[in-house]
Amino acid sequence: MNEHDIINEIRNKTDIVDLISSYIPLTLKGKNHFGVCPFHEDTNPSMSVSREKQIYRCFSCGASGNVFNFVMDYEHLSFRETLEFLAKKQNLEIKGLKITEKKEKYQEYYDIYDITNKYFQNNLNTQLGKKAKEYLQMRNLDDTTIKEFGIGLSLKQDNDLTNILLQKNYPINTLNNIGLSNQDHDIYIDRIMFPLHDLNGRVVGFSGRIYNTNLKENKYINTKGTPIFQKGNNLYNYHRARDAARLKKQIIVMEGFMGCIRASTVEIKNVVSLMGTAMTKEQAELIKRLSNNIVLCLDGDDAGSHATLVNGEQLSNMDVNVKVIELPENLDPDDYIIKYGKERFEVLLENAINYNDFKIKYLRKGINFKSDEELSRYLDNVIIEISKVKDDIRREIMLKNLANEFNIGYNTLEKRLQEKLNNIDRKEPIKYTKVTTEKRKDKYYIAILACLYYMIENPKMIKYYENEGIIFPTTVQRNLVSEIIFYFRKYGNINLADFYTYLSNKEELLSLLNEIVSLDLEENINDSVMMEYINVVKEYNIIQEIKRLQELIKKEINPLEQAKIAERIKLLKIGS
Ligand code: CTP
Ligand code: MN
Repeated sequence: MNEHDIINEIRNKTDIVDLISSYIPLTLKGKNHFGVCPFHEDTNPSMSVSREKQIYRCFSCGASGNVFNFVMDYEHLSFRETLEFLAKKQNLEIKGLKITEKKEKYQEYYDIYDITNKYFQNNLNTQLGKKAKEYLQMRNLDDTTIKEFGIGLSLKQDNDLTNILLQKNYPINTLNNIGLSNQDHDIYIDRIMFPLHDLNGRVVGFSGRIYNTNLKENKYINTKGTPIFQKGNNLYNYHRARDAARLKKQIIVMEGFMGCIRASTVEIKNVVSLMGTAMTKEQAELIKRLSNNIVLCLDGDDAGSHATLVNGEQLSNMDVNVKVIELPENLDPDDYIIKYGKERFEVLLENAINYNDFKIKYLRKGINFKSDEELSRYLDNVIIEISKVKDDIRREIMLKNLANEFNIGYNTLEKRLQEKLNNIDRKEPIKYTKVTTEKRKDKYYIAILACLYYMIENPKMIKYYENEGIIFPTTVQRNLVSEIIFYFRKYGNINLADFYTYLSNKEELLSLLNEIVSLDLEENINDSVMMEYINVVKEYNIIQEIKRLQELIKKEINPLEQAKIAERIKLLKIGS
């Protein structure tokens, strides 16, 4: 079986109505099942699920897709993870999937990292690793933890690793390129080695920490960026935290990986680390993939709370719930758990405050409340924050507290809040597709989408399209047409549910497909209706062509040419 067959088998064995109804209640109405869409805030059953077509679509937010899309979005899984997830659910062997997985382009890199990782870990258990072992013990890391996190040691003697890898016939250039050697010498010398994994749990780099305090070098050395490792695209502990985060419906984000490791020793496993204070957009997306409930638990120093402000702001703009833990006494999570223990940390976790509240507190810093001007600016900033709170009761409580604390009339503050609320850009975050705006819903636009839809539904439409030579106005539409035709040529017919998977990494095309499918066009229409749509698009093409010629005529200075163009316009207008 090739990969496409296996994917199809998994899809065919997973009935979409059974699958979705295991998450949300569905009721049968006519041919379709309906339920409340889990992908946007709603109470109406705006999601329809078609057993016949094996797809779902939401008429409100525009989400649509097949079983894979549903699981990917609901469970926050990647495509590969979704395949595994569903295969497991159906008790399907997916060994074949692994076999047909194409040999990784960077397999050699993974192999080298794997060997290196084992080598480092082994060093720790030799005579040469005694000091390092003592250091780890001093840091309260026992053997189980050392093993679980694959902690190892790079040796003091230079070039041992480089030599071992050279003996195994790995080219020196490769070792230099992937950040294990530099100008043919080991990069990591006498450091505690923490392996870094990619999202799938493969070792793709290291962070090496000094433990010999005599050395005045960088505390950590991290693997440089390589084709398989970019610090900003990675979160420490992602692959281990994934299941725990899903189970607990929460992900805790820390700065350092020592925090992650420590939390894990007290059985708190839903933790990832940024490996520093900065959070890239990619990291924010990854965090969101783990859970919509995010708890920021950065270091308790000034840098940590500033990073909480910046990172919290970034996450808050992504339609997730962000809470904040502020650690006392400048402690980092590792120190805190060692000093106060698991239970006290869990109390902090329970009492994590909303990001808005943290921000309001943070805004206070350095304000001179005796200055009217500063106070009023502060109040204004706070009211902006309050206006972002979705719950109106909470908004009122926050406003009352503010009024009491600064002895300012509630009504005055309320008026200001109303202004802010009116100003707020009320657009909902775009989740799936730019759902058709009214302006674009004219008859031409509908006809264009309809032509595309029926090309998927009915091969006859493909023939009409090719015979009539209509042109779709946008590149995305034209690209979708090429994919439709390509798919049709390859498989002889088009299965809409499978077509979703076929387009899986082509975001723009998927978005257009979502839009087309959520138009809910009539099925099984007859040929003349199809021709009507084609004709409307034709008419649109002509109007566009006339517009183009009219522009051309304006620019043309040669009267003879002008006359020619005018003649062409005339012909187009009378329809020949
Ligand atoms: N970091 C780094 N390079 C440095 C310092 C820090 O890459 N020179 C990253 C590491 O991933 C580290 C994180 O930033 O885990 C947080 O730094 P820090 O708080 O200094 O490290 P801890 O995790 O607390 O480590 P330790 O307790 O061993 O000092
Ligand atoms: Mn620390």
